[in-house]
Parts: sequence; structure tokens; C-alpha cells
Amino acid sequence: MSEALKREAAARAVAEISSGMKVGLGTGSTARHFVDLLGERVTQGLEIVGVPTSEATARQARDCGIPLSDLDALDRLDVTVDGADEIDAALNLIKGGGGALLREKIVAAASDAMIVIADSSKLVETLGRFPLPIEVNAFGLGATRRAVADVLARHDAQGALRLRVTADGKDFVTDGGHFILDAFFGRISQPEALSSELLNIPGVVQHGLFLNMCRKAYVATPNGVETLLK
Ligand code: A5P
Repeated sequence: MSEALKREAAARAVAEISSGMKVGLGTGSTARHFVDLLGERVTQGLEIVGVPTSEATARQARDCGIPLSDLDALDRLDVTVDGADEIDAALNLIKGGGGALLREKIVAAASDAMIVIADSSKLVETLGRFPLPIEVNAFGLGATRRAVADVLARHDAQGALRLRVTADGKDFVTDGGHFILDAFFGRISQPEALSSELLNIPGVVQHGLFLNMCRKAYVATPNGVETLLK
């Protein structure tokens, strides 16, 4: 889908931000439009503080003149605005395609609301078509990978478990210094059970299932932006 559609969704979320708010800043190409548009409003006098969910977003936000803080200095955030890789009808999400899922989840959990912005290509009936990113500690990678593969088998995963690599073939390393395993399910029929089984593996740091965290999504279609509420 086009950048113009992503920007339309982002513009709807920017319209919800008012002076005095503490705002979580998501990561990815759609969140990038949000940060850009938010920066324009800051230049025009909007007084907010942002908490970025990745080093890349922090750099962009600084370039846009958005004042930044972190979760050590702030108590709760008012809202986090972020993209998603998949969105189901209950507004459960898969995130982490950009590798920022850990900070994205920490920041969203510290926010009173999470607004997702996306184009309609992200809507699915059942999560799992997009490979689930699982952030793992580098120590004991082989053992963690085998344990994750056992969980995948119990959940009828339809494809391989892959260690994420960069475009030039190097291991992808997250902002937190971890690796990412991408798990191809096809469909995830029991997301809650899958979530706890993955988190029970000591080497798993976090995964990209965002369950019951989002209550509003702005989804851009060629016919306009739809608001989805939970
Ligand atoms: C980053 O880690 C992700 O969670 C992104 O929010 C997600 O991949 C959506 O990215 P796009 O907006 O680029 O599709």
C-alpha cells in the first residue's frame, strides 16, 4: 500500500494529540509518518514529550524537534501510537517486523492507550500469516531455539523457524542486543496459550503478539480512513 495511505492514518492519530501529553512514539514506516507529522505540530507550538520505541525513532524525533524523555523519568504515558504487521478483528496484533517489539511492548504497556495506525493490508481474520518475531537472548541460542521449535510444533506451525539476518547476511541484533527468531505459523489459533508458552522459555525475552493492548486502530483504505474500536 502507498505511503500516502499510511500518512492519512498517521494524520488521524496526530489529531488526537494535545499539549501536555506524554506520547509513546512507535517504530516502522507508518509510525515514521506519525513522528514526522507530530514534529510539524511541535514546530507550530504543540507542547508534548515523546518516548521513542527504538534508536531509529529517537533519531528521527530529535531531528523533528520533538522533546524526548524515557520511562525512568515519567510515570504513565497518555498514549502510544505505533504501526503493526497484522491486526485481527479484536485488535490483537503481531508486531516486530522492524525488530523493535521489546521496546514497543514496554512503552505500550506503560501507556493508558495504544493507537495503531496501518493500511488495510494489515487486517487479517486470524493472526499468523505474518511470521511471529520472537526476541531471544544470544546466550544459549541453540537451546532456546529448540525449545521454541517444540512450542511451534504444539501449535501446528506450518513453516520454519528462522534466525533473522540483515540484508547483507549478518545476524540481526535488536536495540537491546538480542537476536530475533521468526516463526511461520500460517494461523495462530490459540494466541494466549502460545504467548505464555513462549514466555515460559528462559531464553525468550519477548514476542510480537500484542494481545488486549490496543483499543483503537486507524486503518487507511483507498476509500478513506476507518476507525476500529474495541
Ligand atoms: C517494528 O518493530 C514493528 O512492530 C512495526 O511497527 C511494524 O513492523 C509495522 O511496520 P510498518 O509500519 O513499516 O509496516
